[in-house]
Amino acid sequence: MSGFAKRYSFRSGKVHDESCKSYNSRPFAIAACCVLFCLGIGLIIGFEAGRGGVESKPWQQVRLPETLLPIHYDVELQVDVTAFTVVGQVNVTLRCATPTRYVILHAAELDVVSGDGTPGVTSNDGVTVPRITSWFLYTENQYLVLELDKELTKGVVYTVSINFRGTLRDGLIGFYRSSYVNNDGQTRYLATTHMQPMGARLAFPCFDEPAFKATFTVTLVHRDGYTALANMPLENNVTRNDGWIADRFQRSVRMPTYLLAFVVSDYTSVGTVSSSGLETRIWARPEYISAGMGDYALDVADKIVAYYEEYFDVPFPLPKIDHISIPDYSIGAMENWGLITYAESLLLYDTSRKRMQEQYPGTARIVAHELAHMWFGNLVTMEWWDGTWLNEGFASYVEYLGYGYVEPDVNVMEQFAYYRCQGVLEDDSLTSSRPIFQPVNHPDESREIFDSITYSKGASILRMLGNFVGENTFRKGLKSYLERNAYSNAVQDELWEEITLAAREDGQTDLDVKTVMDTWTLQMGYPVVNLTRDYGRGTAQATQQHFLLDPTATVSAPSDFGYRWHIPLTYTTRGGSFDEPDQVWMRPDQGTSTVNLGGAGSDDWVLANIHRVGYYRVNYDPTNWRLLIDHLNSSLYEEIPPDNRGTLIDDAFNLGRASQLDLSIALDLTRYLVRERHFVPWSMAKAAMNYVETVFGSVSDIYNNWQAYMVQLISPFYNEVGWTLQQSDYNTEVGQVLAISTACTYGQTGCVNNATALFQRWMDTNNNSHIPETFKSTVYCTAIRYGGSREWDFAWQRYLEAEPSEQNLLLSAMACSRDTVILSRYLERSKDAALVRRQSAPDVISYVGGSDVGKTLAWNFLVDNWDFYMENYDETQFTMASIVSSVTKQFSAQEDLDNLEQFLKDHPNQGTATRAFSQAVDNTGANLRFRRDNESKIRAWLPGRSRGN
Ligand SMILES: *[C@@H]1O[C@H](CO)[C@@H](O)[C@H](O)[C@H]1NC(C)=O
Ligand SMILES: *[C@@H]1O[C@H](CO)[C@@H](O)[C@H](O)[C@H]1NC(C)=O
Ligand SMILES: *[C@@H]1O[C@H](CO)[C@@H](O)[C@H](O)[C@H]1NC(C)=O
Ligand SMILES: *[C@@H]1O[C@H](CO)[C@@H](O)[C@H](O)[C@H]1NC(C)=O
Ligand SMILES: *[C@@H]1O[C@H](CO)[C@@H](O)[C@H](O)[C@H]1NC(C)=O
Ligand SMILES: [Zn+2]
Repeated sequence: MSGFAKRYSFRSGKVHDESCKSYNSRPFAIAACCVLFCLGIGLIIGFEAGRGGVESKPWQQVRLPETLLPIHYDVELQVDVTAFTVVGQVNVTLRCATPTRYVILHAAELDVVSGDGTPGVTSNDGVTVPRITSWFLYTENQYLVLELDKELTKGVVYTVSINFRGTLRDGLIGFYRSSYVNNDGQTRYLATTHMQPMGARLAFPCFDEPAFKATFTVTLVHRDGYTALANMPLENNVTRNDGWIADRFQRSVRMPTYLLAFVVSDYTSVGTVSSSGLETRIWARPEYISAGMGDYALDVADKIVAYYEEYFDVPFPLPKIDHISIPDYSIGAMENWGLITYAESLLLYDTSRKRMQEQYPGTARIVAHELAHMWFGNLVTMEWWDGTWLNEGFASYVEYLGYGYVEPDVNVMEQFAYYRCQGVLEDDSLTSSRPIFQPVNHPDESREIFDSITYSKGASILRMLGNFVGENTFRKGLKSYLERNAYSNAVQDELWEEITLAAREDGQTDLDVKTVMDTWTLQMGYPVVNLTRDYGRGTAQATQQHFLLDPTATVSAPSDFGYRWHIPLTYTTRGGSFDEPDQVWMRPDQGTSTVNLGGAGSDDWVLANIHRVGYYRVNYDPTNWRLLIDHLNSSLYEEIPPDNRGTLIDDAFNLGRASQLDLSIALDLTRYLVRERHFVPWSMAKAAMNYVETVFGSVSDIYNNWQAYMVQLISPFYNEVGWTLQQSDYNTEVGQVLAISTACTYGQTGCVNNATALFQRWMDTNNNSHIPETFKSTVYCTAIRYGGSREWDFAWQRYLEAEPSEQNLLLSAMACSRDTVILSRYLERSKDAALVRRQSAPDVISYVGGSDVGKTLAWNFLVDNWDFYMENYDETQFTMASIVSSVTKQFSAQEDLDNLEQFLKDHPNQGTATRAFSQAVDNTGANLRFRRDNESKIRAWLPGRSRGN
């Protein structure tokens, strides 16, 4: 369905020009645009001048020149899975768009081999073909440059052939090796790939930018006993004279390089063919498949694709989708078109463990996320990495729809406020945050863009958009966006345009989506809305302000919109509707908006941001806060839905941190938790209250009273659910897990005794089948926390032989120890890839850094082993940033701040952790201030209140 003329059919000076125009009053953006655009002009001028004269050095540009456009690749890779060698050949057919004497494409860590006419250029267009006179690798930009004796001719189609050798890499990017130990104790190797964002160039020479879409015919040559998989189905296979098997796959659809995938393994699969003929298969180690661990994923994957075909109303274009689990994997999963790769613990599921889905992200949710990308990202791709947020934000929103479809018992949207909003609202209230649309001037910056802002803010603002335009209009706009840009690339403005058109058609004549959404995407942060009621008139005055956790911070990044937003303010009053709440628009240029509260009496509360669909916080006048507190602290508290109950506590604590609300109001709100039985508000409350622990965890009198208070809040819930496994409905099951884990975390004596007894029985019998799956993490952590080296060593031995999801549980539980000797040894062992898988070492330091005893240890360990972490993890997307943020999260003393600043002085290059470090500095400063301002207040509030019950 790509019969439409594309406005920007290719990345070109025109696109840069366009983006310069849209952001023309942002000084840094204009500078950035001009660098690219002017360099572009310079390049063109250079070429013009170069005709017959001196040609510039186009390989010095960080972005590929647009002189040559790839059309099709024939790629053959012969991979020896055990010797870790790759021998390859690529023939890339391309059209010359601008005459040039150079063929420049990406290649890294590959040896180009000469001979048999390669590297070489040919053409079927009947022209004289220039000869390659020399070639070189320009490693600075990861380019392979082929120099020709004459210029290629504009409009002519050429084929460039390159033979090369490479290794099956040891890292987790490009074409790399992974392994597992099978039931017979043998190590089995497999070859696999991870390309996004810049890994394809490590596998074969290619034009490795998302706008250089082409078709691919892939041949994987391997030894007998292995199965090869690629994006497309197998076309044919031949056994060559030397005994190698060559599997040739069908020609792909037009796609970007970052979505390619190749796997050669001894895996087996389970599969099904849908009524529309689409084949879905789940691949894993043979023993996992025969144990049925792929069955759940197969069931949900098959259903979700069918659901999306209906939701998007655009058919899935490939004949098959494989989902494959990889033992060594740096991220959760990757949406390679037709061959989705996953971490084992996310794709594979014991059916008995199915109910663990509250443990984000869970199989159904991650499958739903990756499948959403098949349309959003794969069919229509962002023009450049600055558009990543649209891709990821979209999948992170739509995953809830797919997940909800296959798990109808679970009210998934009710979890959105917790999983998708709560964390990012915290990250995005620091001055070191960034706009979600972020210029990516150097390709290396593309790695840093995969953060909570991209995923969770992206998901939140798209959900907000879907809500204010209405679901039908949203889907209509999406469908035309997908059809118009199919097999091509697009920028966010094109989506806004399609949704605006759909809205106009549906009668929303004065809505301009771009005007609204630009305030959410082109400036960082978000607003807090102050709602001040006039109790006599039945109205409220609403004002907005950029919400910053640190009230003393100054924002240095400029904004076109002056940090004001178009806010769809939804609200209701006691007795009003939560399904169809009232809505008013707050405009950036309005000082105050008057909100008509209809029939709200002066004893009725008002609540805004219904179901937290809006990406903002709300503050009320003290009287309204009191009305809400009293209502929650009554048997009628469930009149306010769970996500809004959690949101009230989250907003109140964060407003307290920002000195916009007296902390005692936030604390008073938590009193109602003695009644709360729903895991969403409980989880949100715990996460919000966790800040108090972060800051006061080492102030022992406060912390002891705090623990006692928490035990008092959770005990009724805990006593009600007990340890007998509840198997009624999802919320009850998850609620029980939460009650037990909370009670044990705060040291409730009964809970600790029960957990320790269950663990003891495991040690005695060497069998843990008596511990329900969902209780394991609490049981393990509690027993290790209150135990000694006997418990820890036992857990370590079990870890070494466990399957992946059990390993993950143990890995986190072993960090619960409060013994610094044990924890140091644990950190040390995590560096040994023979003991802890390469992708899991960052989890160990993050877990250890997350506890009050572990925080200093983990920080020192990070400093001492900085080179180890940078060498191994800087090239993967989230890892360094997440290590840094977990290890520094609890920093709340002057000494911590000094340490951080010293570190930054000593290590000017922080790679992909750069932003995480500046957030850590901000965060530590804010923690210090919070402690200073609230220490005596919280001390006064705590004992007096908790003694009462
Ligand atoms: C590349 O082209 C050459 C010459 O036509 C051919 O012999 C070779 O098999 C091609 N390689 C691939 C991978 O298709
Ligand atoms: C070739 O493909 C067919 C069909 O998929 C398969 O049955 C056969 O085992 C393959 N042969 C080899 C040598 O891999
Ligand atoms: C909102 O209320 C808080 C607390 O009273 C105050 O600090 C803040 O300045 C107010 N903001 C606006 C825009 O009125
Ligand atoms: C909550 O309600 C109980 C009575 O049900 C009352 O004793 C207590 O003071 C109330 N707490 C708050 C914070 O209002
Ligand atoms: C928890 O402890 C109580 C009291 O010691 C005991 O009665 C109960 O059986 C224990 N439950 C489990 C699951 O161990
Ligand atoms: Zn994604």
